[in-house]
Amino acid sequence: MTKKIAVLAGDGIGPEIMAEAMKVLNVLNSQMNLELEFENGLIGGAAYDEYGSPFPQQTIDLVKAADAILLGAVGGKKWESLEIALRPEKGLLGLRSTLNLFSNLRPAILYPQLANASSLKAELVSGLDLMIVRELTGGIYFGQPRGIRLLENGERQGFNTAVYSESEIRRIGHSAFKIAQKRNKKLCSVDKANVLECTELWREIMTELNQYYPDVELSHMYVDNAAMQLVRAPKQFDVIVTSNLFGDILSDAAAMLTGSIGMLPSASLNETGKGMYEPIHGSAPDIAGKGIANPIATILSVAMMLRYTFNLSEAAERIELAVNRALNANKRTSDIYSEGMIKVSTVEMGDAIIAGLN
Ligand code: IPM
Ligand code: MG
Repeated sequence: MTKKIAVLAGDGIGPEIMAEAMKVLNVLNSQMNLELEFENGLIGGAAYDEYGSPFPQQTIDLVKAADAILLGAVGGKKWESLEIALRPEKGLLGLRSTLNLFSNLRPAILYPQLANASSLKAELVSGLDLMIVRELTGGIYFGQPRGIRLLENGERQGFNTAVYSESEIRRIGHSAFKIAQKRNKKLCSVDKANVLECTELWREIMTELNQYYPDVELSHMYVDNAAMQLVRAPKQFDVIVTSNLFGDILSDAAAMLTGSIGMLPSASLNETGKGMYEPIHGSAPDIAGKGIANPIATILSVAMMLRYTFNLSEAAERIELAVNRALNANKRTSDIYSEGMIKVSTVEMGDAIIAGLN
């Protein structure tokens, strides 16, 4: 059976990091006979420029027909003044919701080689390995009504709606409990149940689900406290499950604990295991085109794809090992560079990882 992968490089540094990921994947594909097939498509600003939409019909058809999607990043200054519906970010949100990719896995793992790149003291983060499970297709990101309206007194008012139905909470809850079972069996549900009814229900359902996973130790934390705990004592966490908006914010904070947001991959899965894989970082327009972006997050996203959608864990491990070898060889892109290391470009990092594939 062939395995179809839609490749959407997107904007900013997207094409540069995707080129390296594809280089790695092509080598592995022929080394291990993985029978992967690729088709490129446009998303975000790149798609808007070509088709006038950040998620055009061609791309919708492509991702629906694919078994997995690899995505670079979307967004950039050029498109910031467009109306919200046409902005690059809408392409990404459209993709997530069209494919029902409700379960977003965002691991934050500290590579021992990078302990000094973290903004926290090495002893606070050494050995850090946590997983944020972010609900990705609901909450305030998608809730209706939303918009900017004119009030009777003539002033404008912006409004959004935070909503979660029981079934939405249950499915992300099951997803997170199952992941916790395969790890250290600790799940922390993050909410704002002291203020928001929407997350009061969230807490109730998470508590109820615990009965199906008696081996998992469930705790609850308010999001403000969770933000504090993440930078105070991050190793207390194993798996965190949270809403779309809170997960967006906490995952950036967690990423930085590991030294660079340029290191971290993510998976967005639907009920059947079909998935979209992308780095956690954005399109970084400030460094786009300079050849200095770190391709590791995208390359590790490829590893997640092989593992979660195609069950090719051996191939996934080969990639992860190759990344480790490149780091052990002291190769560093500028975001993770420290004195005494060898500063390399995006392309050179891709080459170093390929060298470690054997
Ligand atoms: C992310 C990003 C997106 C989000 C943006 C680009 C729409 O920040 O994947 O975390 O808010 O979900
Ligand atoms: Mg984000």
